[in-house]
Amino acid sequence: MYVYDQYDQQLLNERVAQFRGQMARYLDGKIPEEEFLPLRLQNGIYVQRYAPMLRVAIPYGLFNAKQMRTLASIARDYDKGYAHFSTRQNVQFNWPALEQCPDILERLASVQMHAVQTSGNCIRNTTTDEFAGVTADELVDPRPYCEIIRQWSTFHPEFAYLPRKFKIAVNAVPGVDRAAVKVHDIGINIVRNEQGELGYRILVGGGLGRTPIIGSEIRSFLPEEDLLTYLDAIIRIYNQFGRRDNKYKARIKILVKALGVERMQELVEAEWQRIKDGEDKLTQAELDRVKSHFTTPNYQTLESNPASLQQAQAQDAAFARWVQRNVRPHKQAGYAIVNLSLKQKGNAPGDVTAEQMDAIADLAEEFSLGEIRSTHQQNLVLADVEQQRLYELWQQAKSNGLATPTLGLLTDMICCPGGDFCALANAKSIPVAEAIQVRFDDLDYLHDLGEIDLNISGCMNACGHHHVGNIGVLGVDKKGEEFYQISLGGNGGDDASLGKILGPSFARDAMPDVIAKILDCYVAQRIDGETFLETYRRAGHTVFKEAVYGKAD
Ligand code: HEM
Ligand code: SF4
Repeated sequence: MYVYDQYDQQLLNERVAQFRGQMARYLDGKIPEEEFLPLRLQNGIYVQRYAPMLRVAIPYGLFNAKQMRTLASIARDYDKGYAHFSTRQNVQFNWPALEQCPDILERLASVQMHAVQTSGNCIRNTTTDEFAGVTADELVDPRPYCEIIRQWSTFHPEFAYLPRKFKIAVNAVPGVDRAAVKVHDIGINIVRNEQGELGYRILVGGGLGRTPIIGSEIRSFLPEEDLLTYLDAIIRIYNQFGRRDNKYKARIKILVKALGVERMQELVEAEWQRIKDGEDKLTQAELDRVKSHFTTPNYQTLESNPASLQQAQAQDAAFARWVQRNVRPHKQAGYAIVNLSLKQKGNAPGDVTAEQMDAIADLAEEFSLGEIRSTHQQNLVLADVEQQRLYELWQQAKSNGLATPTLGLLTDMICCPGGDFCALANAKSIPVAEAIQVRFDDLDYLHDLGEIDLNISGCMNACGHHHVGNIGVLGVDKKGEEFYQISLGGNGGDDASLGKILGPSFARDAMPDVIAKILDCYVAQRIDGETFLETYRRAGHTVFKEAVYGKAD
């Protein structure tokens, strides 16, 4: 894990002091509202429906037990006793008092955390695979590359006022994508070329919101040392040509669409040729410096699938189910990757209480080398658990409500904060998630259905990624009433696709029944162990439409 040096720490401390001054002057009436707005946004503070929201950065989702305890203490002392893990690996507080934000930021800085660049039109948190560094199928550990991007982008003077926010995601597993790189402004796939050299396949112009677009390839292979200069070139072109007259047309996806990816590529290449051998070209020493923070821990030599684990699974069906669903293979023999679920029935997806956060910190220290990861699906991961201790860990996780064995299943939903918090919402999201959790809580049925992504957004802004849900739910407003529109066939993975709208929207009460009809249709249509997405792609949209709305005459 990257550990701050004295410069990082000083930078952060000074930023907190600076913001404290700005806040004091704002409260004194010396800084007008409109001038304070960009200052608070630069420090991760939104003002939403009822209270401010503070978004705290978790670089590429990696943090430690001490940081988790600090988040818990903030939830307890400054919020309503809980926090919310978001789809971009960050964490949010929904109820801090504005005037207390400098104190919160100071507490965060004491454990090397901050809210810098978590909002505003700048380069946001770079995200990656939550299994980075421990999954056997990755080409290399993507986290050092994310860290390099973090160090380059944080406080980058040229990119502090882009036309809109800018999101980069990195993936290093061939054929699998847990970071949704195709729906990011820039998606980076770490690849090897035919000569076996390490580099990147770069996608550009993906994104959701009111114009959802899958990113296009702008470069099939970029050498390892050219990462930053090439990113620089893309973002410069965006900074120069991106629209600033209309917020809804300002993302890079609109520029790429307007220019065409070939023209975009020409512009970027021309810019890149000018700067590619400049001071941002990565040297081996710099790559080594950052990589040295992500070394393989001192794993023990352990037996794979030990007898004690097999025995526990044989004796305890609930444990066996959790292992099958929430535990993933680790590259090191005798170890496992454990997913802690934040999708308990009756809980808003991604929400976690201060007590649970403390418990997770304890679990991380006791079972997983003190580290935690947050995931795009709004769950948490303990990445280095000895298989022989899984049963013990499961019991503790279960007693803290963190072991719902549904990872990747219907009720492991992504859900935006929606109308309960967000001023932009057309409809609430959380009650829909809850109604679906309550209706579909039969574990046998959920396991029989297999992997399904159900994503919910409360409006077109698509924070809940509904376009890339196999089943997407979008809150819409009809003459002041809340309704929900369904789309099917979306997918955020390696073969990403955007969902297609099923038909007219439904009232909230009808939603569980509508989802039931869609699921019944899938069960009736599926063959040979197909997933929901495979069945949808094979059987086609009309079959599902008719199952929900009846046959058209
Ligand atoms: C106060 C209102 C809002 C709330 C509470 C909210 C909440 C969220 C959350 C929790 C995330 C994941 C964030 C992260 O970790 O970086 C997110 C992402 C996102 N937000 Fe929002 N958001 C709000 C306003 C907006 C607005 C105004 C837009 C667009 C105009 C927007 C568009 C998106 C999109 C498109 C994503 C994710 C998909 C992507 O990155 O392309 N949100 N939002
Ligand atoms: S999708 Fe809409 S309702 Fe949901 S958090 Fe984003 S802006 Fe708010």
